Amino acid sequence: MRPANDAASSRSRSGRGRCGRKTARSGGPFQGENSIAALLDVSDVTVRFGGVVALDGLSFAIDEGQICALIGPNGAGKTTLFNVVSRVYDPTEGHITYDGDDLIHLAPHTIARVGIARTFQNLALWPGMSVLENVMVGMHTTSKQSFLTASLRLGLSKEERQLREKAHAVLEELDLQAFARHPAAGLPFGTLKRVELARAIVSDPRLLLLDEPAGGLTHSEVDELASVIKTVRDNRNLTVLLVEHHMHMVMGISDKVVVLDFGSKISEGLPSEIQRDERVIEAYLGAPA
Ligand SMILES: Nc1ncnc2c1ncn2[C@@H]1O[C@H](COP(=O)(O)OP(=O)(O)OP(=O)(O)O)[C@@H](O)[C@H]1O
Ligand SMILES: [Mg+2]
Repeated sequence: MRPANDAASSRSRSGRGRCGRKTARSGGPFQGENSIAALLDVSDVTVRFGGVVALDGLSFAIDEGQICALIGPNGAGKTTLFNVVSRVYDPTEGHITYDGDDLIHLAPHTIARVGIARTFQNLALWPGMSVLENVMVGMHTTSKQSFLTASLRLGLSKEERQLREKAHAVLEELDLQAFARHPAAGLPFGTLKRVELARAIVSDPRLLLLDEPAGGLTHSEVDELASVIKTVRDNRNLTVLLVEHHMHMVMGISDKVVVLDFGSKISEGLPSEIQRDERVIEAYLGAPA
């Protein structure tokens, strides 16, 4: 999907080397070239999948509290970066620091513990589970025990009660309390997108990665979600990396925008600067109608 009037197409690019999945480097603590105040500092990151260069020497940084949008055509490498940051893939080359520490050393299951949470481009909820249970899944890596195991026993432990209370509080925060006991299956898509957001923030992350949260929503749902994301950022002092094709939303809520094309950064700046950038207009935005 592309914004404005451009047609979509997935693209690939030739390159050398090996698949980026869990193959590459490990290194010691690394201080990137960008501001030391950055919460996330991506430095010269390259990811190759066989002959495809999904990311090509990408560098940018996000300061604490910022909403940074990562935009670009289909196949530009946006989800690949999410998968590197959430430790699904190792980069073939490059470094990432999170809060000043090497991120690439971390195993995927420890990401939530250091304060990183994500949503997925395609909804990843359990249809048969209630909304409350789906949200509680977001706490399983930070809680001492699995609530699924716990739910097989009679009675709730103190920790289980606290987890439930916390999940209820997040449902309230996102105006989802009415659906707490409803199975995810059958709920409107816009509601399910908010449930996914609830699941991501219930672990109290510092860095939230949102992969196309507005995909498939109606115009009014997109506007509503944009305001929810901004409110959640403000109330929780979150740092947000937002991948989105809805330019109205991106330009409305982002503090800065990074633009990818074929895995390379072609521009970075304020939304107003990005909208005027000839290279971005040519590669992605298209000329205004
Ligand atoms: N696991 C993988 N194995 C091989 N190639 C992959 C893999 N994941 C991504 N790619 C390729 O890497 C490139 C970047 O893909 P990615 O999914 O990161 O793009 P994207 O910017 O998120 O696109 P979209 O806007 O369509 O979601 C594409 O050419 C894609 O086909
Ligand atoms: Mg993607």
